[in-house]
Amino acid sequence: MSNTAPDSLTAPARTATKRSILMCKPTHYTVSYRINPWMHPEDPTDTSKAVQQWQSLVDVYEQLGFDIQYIEPVEGLPDMVYAANGGFVLDGVAYGAKFQYPERQPEGPAYMDWFRSAGLTVAEPEETNEGEGDFLLVGDTIFAGTGFRSDSTSHEELARIYGREVVTLKLINPNFYHLDTAIAVLDPEPAADGTSNIAYLESAFDEPSLAILRERFPDAIIATEEDAAILGLNSYSDGYNVVIASRATTFAEQLKEKGYNPIGVDLSELLLGGGGVKCCTLDLHPVGTGTSVARSLGVS
Ligand code: ARG
Repeated sequence: MSNTAPDSLTAPARTATKRSILMCKPTHYTVSYRINPWMHPEDPTDTSKAVQQWQSLVDVYEQLGFDIQYIEPVEGLPDMVYAANGGFVLDGVAYGAKFQYPERQPEGPAYMDWFRSAGLTVAEPEETNEGEGDFLLVGDTIFAGTGFRSDSTSHEELARIYGREVVTLKLINPNFYHLDTAIAVLDPEPAADGTSNIAYLESAFDEPSLAILRERFPDAIIATEEDAAILGLNSYSDGYNVVIASRATTFAEQLKEKGYNPIGVDLSELLLGGGGVKCCTLDLHPVGTGTSVARSLGVS
């Protein structure tokens, strides 16, 4: 028997913030190469099912009142649906992606073209990086993953561009090759008490990185291996509503205990490419909202 009353009495009040995001319809989605352990090109994929499931994610975001922008999918770029990898956008500046694997490299310029057309200043990348897949804004700080995809030199580039604190975290398990598979940002803007919380998978990080996470996020949700194993952490929060994989049931309970409202979606088809909810979602952090309030930038 579940009793939610004590939780709702002790959990802090949460505030939903309006999000502005970029998405890409999986019109050309398939698994035709293998660049992460989730991908099995020998197994069939169902593009129309992927489109249906992606649409269900769009529907949830629409019901939550998000501002959703769309980039045109490009034939021959089956992973383009994972918009989080298309770049990192903050303070009106888009830091372009420079993909590690040749199969995805043309996505970088395609996304940069979109950023330009949206009126953003584009910082062309010199270092290998996979955008918001590895860079997550928490409060005023950018947490940056490395180990599999983004090179740590891109973290320095990121710090130069945004003039913000960038904290490097090292990923050690190839199943969790992007930071957004191992950390979920729960408060895209600081909560009522001024803090920003996360959920994370301990075994995805090396010891020094874990020490940083434990020190900075003493109240974090510690995800279970079971939930992480279906990319349950790859979720997207507006500060109250947290859109997660429907199979991540323990994560859903943990979120409720902390006063969040988990909303499950089934993206099983997109999991075959090694991605989930967050991978399909690039936060545009519009200037003037939350922590993105105008500040002097280190770009000319
Ligand atoms: N097949 C894609 C790749 O391996 C999946 C990307 C998932 N995206 C993410 N933000 N984690 O690059």
